[in-house]
Amino acid sequence: MAAATCKTSPIPTNLNHPHRPKPPIPRFRAVRCASRPTSKTSSKTLAPGDLSPAFRSVTAFAPATIANLGPCFDFLGCAVDGVGDTVTVAVDPAVPAGTLSISSISGIAASAAKLSRDPLWNCAGIAGIAAMRALGVRSIGLSLHLEKGLPLGSGLGSSAASAAAAAVAVNGLFGGRLTPGELVLAGLESEKKVSGYHADNVAPSIMGGFVLIRSYDPLELLRLEFPAGQDLYFVLVSPEFEAPTKKMRAALPPEVKMKDHVHNSSQAAALVAAVVRGDVRVLGLAMSSDGIVEPRRAPLIPGMAGVKKAAIEAGAFGCTISGAGPTAVAVIDGEEKGKEIGDRMVEAFLREGGLKASATVARLDRVGARVISSNAD
Ligand code: HSE
Repeated sequence: MAAATCKTSPIPTNLNHPHRPKPPIPRFRAVRCASRPTSKTSSKTLAPGDLSPAFRSVTAFAPATIANLGPCFDFLGCAVDGVGDTVTVAVDPAVPAGTLSISSISGIAASAAKLSRDPLWNCAGIAGIAAMRALGVRSIGLSLHLEKGLPLGSGLGSSAASAAAAAVAVNGLFGGRLTPGELVLAGLESEKKVSGYHADNVAPSIMGGFVLIRSYDPLELLRLEFPAGQDLYFVLVSPEFEAPTKKMRAALPPEVKMKDHVHNSSQAAALVAAVVRGDVRVLGLAMSSDGIVEPRRAPLIPGMAGVKKAAIEAGAFGCTISGAGPTAVAVIDGEEKGKEIGDRMVEAFLREGGLKASATVARLDRVGARVISSNAD
């Protein structure tokens, strides 16, 4: 994607009553982005001539994400605090101008060893190149180091986190000219190649919080504001089992029945309402109620049905598959309960599915991908 015109604007939340006063904090923020820009658009938004880097190197971190959240397949996801991928990009005179080379990959050994160092076949490489193209970088070559904090095929947006960190690092290196929508488009180049054209991992990884994809063409993203000061925690339980997104997408039905459509639409709408109202109980109920995707995927993950039951019996408000799986995600409103619920879920994975698993309790990440260090020397 060469360049795209994106803008951010508040959307009023009082659409249902003309006389209701506007709330002081907008609960939705819209990012609109032309996904197929014309050459006229490109020439307007690209910097003329050579773009100079603002730094010699920049390191960015991008958080893990939970896509789908049950009934919101491919159109809603959120970011979680603490775990993610880190990318450093540096100006490198040894790399041909306008291109990017992957110098090294470290971090989780099993993930790092499986990844290609060919930038055209690596999520960070693809998104980094797309960001360079969107910025109009032609006369400088970059080298990229990827540090994997997330396991591959875990359902925590591992590929999206690499892509998001790379796009944000490249953007930071050149002074941060790209909008969030343009960064998501750069990340989507990578998602398209590795798993499918879905932005429900890469958008929240870049923007933080909950992000709803209202439209793909043109790309329009709505950030949903979970009320500040209210707690939301996720219990993430990852079994030792790989569920490649491509394979899990292939398991989905080509068509759905009208009654399932009505059911899932009502649950998705309830989930969005629950997010902006900060109602964790309804969020959990809605998240647990997917009648289309989860019933097809859960049988492919040994023990998943028992894990969900164990989470709810232990006090979680709801539980489903995180992204394409195999991680199971449960929601709660306090950190203390999380450990206990996680233990019950780990036991259930072993008992019902014969899988070893590990649990993490994570908070909602409201920030998204960010530059964590830069070096001008
Ligand atoms: N929405 C995507 C899927 C997310 O469920 O296939 C993959 O992480």
